[in-house]
Amino acid sequence: MEVKTSLLDNMIGVGDMVLLEPLSENSFIENLKNRFDHNEIYTYIGSVVISMNPYKSLPIYTAEKVEEYRNRNFYELSPHIYALADEAYRSLRHQDKDQCILITGESGAGKTEASKFVMSYVAAVCGKGQEVNKVKEQLLQSNPVLEAFGNAKTVRNDNSSRFGKYMDIEFDFKGDPLGGVISNYLLEKSRVVKQPRGERNFHIFYQLLSGASEDTLKKLKLDRDFSKYNYLSLDSATVNGLDDAASFRTVRNAMQIVGFMEDEVQSVLELVAAVLKLGNIEFKPESRVNGFDESRVKDKNDLKEMCELLGIEQSVLERAFSFRTVEAKMEKVSTTLNVAQAYYARDALAKNLYSRLFSWLVNRINESIKAQTKSRKKVMGVLDIYGFEIFEDNSFEQFIINYCNEKLQQIFIELTLREEQEEYVREGIEWTNIEYFNNAIICDLIENNKNGILAMLDEECLRPGTVTDETFLDKLNTVCAEHQHFESRLSKNSKFLTDHSLPHNCFRIQHYAGKVLYRVEGFVDKNNDLLYRDLSQAMYKASHSLIKLLFPEGNPTKVNLKRPPTAGFQFKASVGTLMKNLLTKNPNYIRCIKPNDKKAPHIFAESLVCHQVRYLGLMENVRVRRAGYAFRQPYEPCLERYKMLCKQTWPHWRGPVREGVEVLLKDMQVPVEEFAYGRSKIFIRNPRTLFFLEEKRRQCLEDLAALIQKIYRGWKCRTRFQLLKKSQVVVAAWYRRYAQQKKYQNIRCSALVVQSFIRGWKARKILRELKYKKRCEKAVTTISAYWHGTQARRELKHLKEEARRKNAIAVIWAYWLGLKVRREYRKFFRANAGKKIYDFTIQKIMQKYFLDLKKTMTSMSPIDKSWPARPYGFLDGTHKELRRMFHLWRCKKYRSQFTEEKKATYDEKLAASELFKDKKALYPNSVGQPFKGDYLEMTKNPKYQKLNSLVDDKVLLADVVSKINRANGKRAPRLFLLTKKNFVLADQKTGQVKASVPLPDLSSVSVSTQNDGFFALKLKEGATSAAKGDFLLSSDRLIEIITKLHRTGAASADRNRIKIDISDEFLVLFKQDKVCVKFIQGSPKNGNGVACKRKNNRLLEVSVP
Ligand SMILES: Nc1ncnc2c1ncn2[C@@H]1O[C@H](COP(=O)(O)OP(=O)(O)O)[C@@H](O)[C@H]1O
Ligand SMILES: [Mg+2]
Repeated sequence: MEVKTSLLDNMIGVGDMVLLEPLSENSFIENLKNRFDHNEIYTYIGSVVISMNPYKSLPIYTAEKVEEYRNRNFYELSPHIYALADEAYRSLRHQDKDQCILITGESGAGKTEASKFVMSYVAAVCGKGQEVNKVKEQLLQSNPVLEAFGNAKTVRNDNSSRFGKYMDIEFDFKGDPLGGVISNYLLEKSRVVKQPRGERNFHIFYQLLSGASEDTLKKLKLDRDFSKYNYLSLDSATVNGLDDAASFRTVRNAMQIVGFMEDEVQSVLELVAAVLKLGNIEFKPESRVNGFDESRVKDKNDLKEMCELLGIEQSVLERAFSFRTVEAKMEKVSTTLNVAQAYYARDALAKNLYSRLFSWLVNRINESIKAQTKSRKKVMGVLDIYGFEIFEDNSFEQFIINYCNEKLQQIFIELTLREEQEEYVREGIEWTNIEYFNNAIICDLIENNKNGILAMLDEECLRPGTVTDETFLDKLNTVCAEHQHFESRLSKNSKFLTDHSLPHNCFRIQHYAGKVLYRVEGFVDKNNDLLYRDLSQAMYKASHSLIKLLFPEGNPTKVNLKRPPTAGFQFKASVGTLMKNLLTKNPNYIRCIKPNDKKAPHIFAESLVCHQVRYLGLMENVRVRRAGYAFRQPYEPCLERYKMLCKQTWPHWRGPVREGVEVLLKDMQVPVEEFAYGRSKIFIRNPRTLFFLEEKRRQCLEDLAALIQKIYRGWKCRTRFQLLKKSQVVVAAWYRRYAQQKKYQNIRCSALVVQSFIRGWKARKILRELKYKKRCEKAVTTISAYWHGTQARRELKHLKEEARRKNAIAVIWAYWLGLKVRREYRKFFRANAGKKIYDFTIQKIMQKYFLDLKKTMTSMSPIDKSWPARPYGFLDGTHKELRRMFHLWRCKKYRSQFTEEKKATYDEKLAASELFKDKKALYPNSVGQPFKGDYLEMTKNPKYQKLNSLVDDKVLLADVVSKINRANGKRAPRLFLLTKKNFVLADQKTGQVKASVPLPDLSSVSVSTQNDGFFALKLKEGATSAAKGDFLLSSDRLIEIITKLHRTGAASADRNRIKIDISDEFLVLFKQDKVCVKFIQGSPKNGNGVACKRKNNRLLEVSVP
């Protein structure tokens, strides 16, 4: 049973009071002092932690310390609050038990600090992650906000909690925080309007004024000077070591982290400012006719500013400070308020405003930090309630606070002293009773429903008639006089009649932690906690949304004539629920002790400590612990938890559970004195035994986990292997198929190659054989030919001889001829083949030639001269011939399109060409000219009508020509008409016929070879018309005229053709003279025109350019 523990090693004094020897109050205190002097502020009594306030910061809350205590057994390291926190968190996580951490002690003993250490430790060791960290941060940051609004400096503590706080931190099954719920208990709101000497109002007022920016203060209409505000006592406005301005920044930052919106923060600060303003409103009396004084607001500036801040109509609030409406049975009565009542109303409003704001803050924080899931949660509750308080002047608040502490002490006593001892007896374990003081009697004095102080107070408050604090005290004096723990001067108990320490207006209660003197003044009012309806209605009318929300009873539609429950009643009820809640959880105690009253380090005031040790019942606690057992558990869960440690109980124990546990412990060789068997539970004396079991269980769990892991891994590997194997088979099958395919293809390829080689070889062999056979045949033929030759020659010789002898030449001749014919035939056979190939080739070439020609054929225009080049030389003739044929053909085609008219025209043109082409230089000019014939338009022109009528035939040609004067060669214009029968020359102007010559009279026409229009019309000698001689005329249309003349002349069958002479020298008969007309190439000086000159009788010279 070797569990390593350092509890006794290098320890200052004794870490666990249970081990203190000898045990006496002196040695107890001595041990505490010894440890305190060495900065060992934590000491155990079993699992309870005693915490001494060091009043100085110690280096024992570092991250390293957190790591040191994390997952360690409670007794393994020196006592620390972290050990308790770790124990609580672990049993929450592992044993699924809801936990609560109860921190008790006097005001200033270090409860709030302890609660923060616990929370920060849990935050440090529980899960991490973005979401979890946010939750943690919000939970932790709710503290500065609540402390700013709910804490204040008191004479006992500079940062005293003026409200009770219980926080449930919720975890999921893994131990990660999910969120939290905060419950608050009765804020000491009287502090808002009045603070005892040496104390301050709530921190937030000072923080706001010191820390807010000028801008914010201006918005809130505040002044930085504390002295400007009636509600802020001046004598201790600043606290040593407290930086209000810095705290303000911390608070604002914390509010932001917790999740307050910017406008919410602003609203909250506005309400705080409004409370300060409210305190500055003062009243003065104003006499009324009926003799009563009525209060009036003195200086309305603060009232105005406050109303502006909250959006309240000033007149409404002002009226509420002067009048009060009382409603009774449907009737409304308005009474005036005097100055004192007005002040009372003002303060009541301020207190209510502030305390409601505080409750709203708590709710708002809860909204932010509440767990998001609905799944089952594990809970760790941390209770940090105001500590037991004894002031010089104790009032209703202290009474309530101390009552709460009484209740907590009850829980402690119930669970650690009474319940434990009773359990030993119940379970039949040998036990000698240990005496202790049970404060149930004090609780009863306060909370008894029939005659408890709170019940009396309520009764008094609800009683009709005049009720004052004195009447209440009277009542107490009569009802509680006999009570052991109640003391009063007026009680019938004569004992206190002469006790001058007990004033008349006070009563005293002997609390478990000492006697406290309560001044009865204010009890009734504070319990009533009345706010005039006019005020709550005024607040409800505000446009400020938050303030409206805080005073729902001000809603005129919801007027409730029933009295609200009293403050005492509410508190009692909420404490009752809290206690019930705590009892469902596994408690962990931190008992805080204050070493001195001076808030100073290093001072250990023995009497003060001794007093606390006594009333906290710590000595009794140690005694019970020493005699008793550290741990107990019903047999069944115990067996369930540890059964894996023993072979007989693992995995199932069939017998009774108690026997199972016995077997188990025996097997584990736990010494007999370490445990006892109760009726239903096993009791284990020393925590070390439990740790030993837990350690073994842990090891065993590790082994089991390894086993599970092993089996799981084996299974996983096997399934994976099987899967791999299956996959491998599939892959292999595919691969084999592929490989076989490849192989087959290779073989096939090779077979083909081999086959082709073999076939080649076979073919070559056959070829060789065939060739050989052929050669053989050839050889045979040759041989046989030779042979036949020889035979024939021999035969011939023989025949020759025979013919010589027998006239057989004819036979030899016939043989020879036969041979010759055969040979010839052979030759022809070969030649024929060649010819066939030749024919075929030629045929192919011709085919190709014609097809190509077809593709490259030229256009159908007769004047197109182009023609594809010839492809083969041997086709030269054909090619030319084809070209000629094609041309003729396309000409024919062209001609076939002609009309008769056009045909005639072309006939004429053809005739002209036959006559003049290459003979006369003028001819080319005429080719392009159309032969119009009637240039004068004889029929249409009226000028020539007469002339036309003279000419009885159709005019074939009519034009103006020049007649050459025979004498001088000058020209004169004449009309020249040609009909079928004759030609006529007429005067151009008059149209008078000068000469009409029948065509048969015309013998010939002479023209030059030159480029001139001269022509001579020669007449037959002896003709009647030839009297004047031949005509020498000139016309540009010579070609047309002559052609027409020639054709017309030829048309008549009876006549010979008119002869056309083309020569540069011809004779013309002028009357009887023959004149030679000679054409010469004209010199350039003659210009372009054709000049005609009579040289002499015989010569007419025409010079042509
Ligand atoms: N563990 C501690 N270490 C250092 N100072 C402490 C410790 N506990 C308490 N104090 C000091 O004592 C003061 C009062 O403690 P607090 O927890 O507010 O008392 P309580 O809540 O019991 O009234 C704290 O402001 C702090 O200065
Ligand atoms: Mg506190």
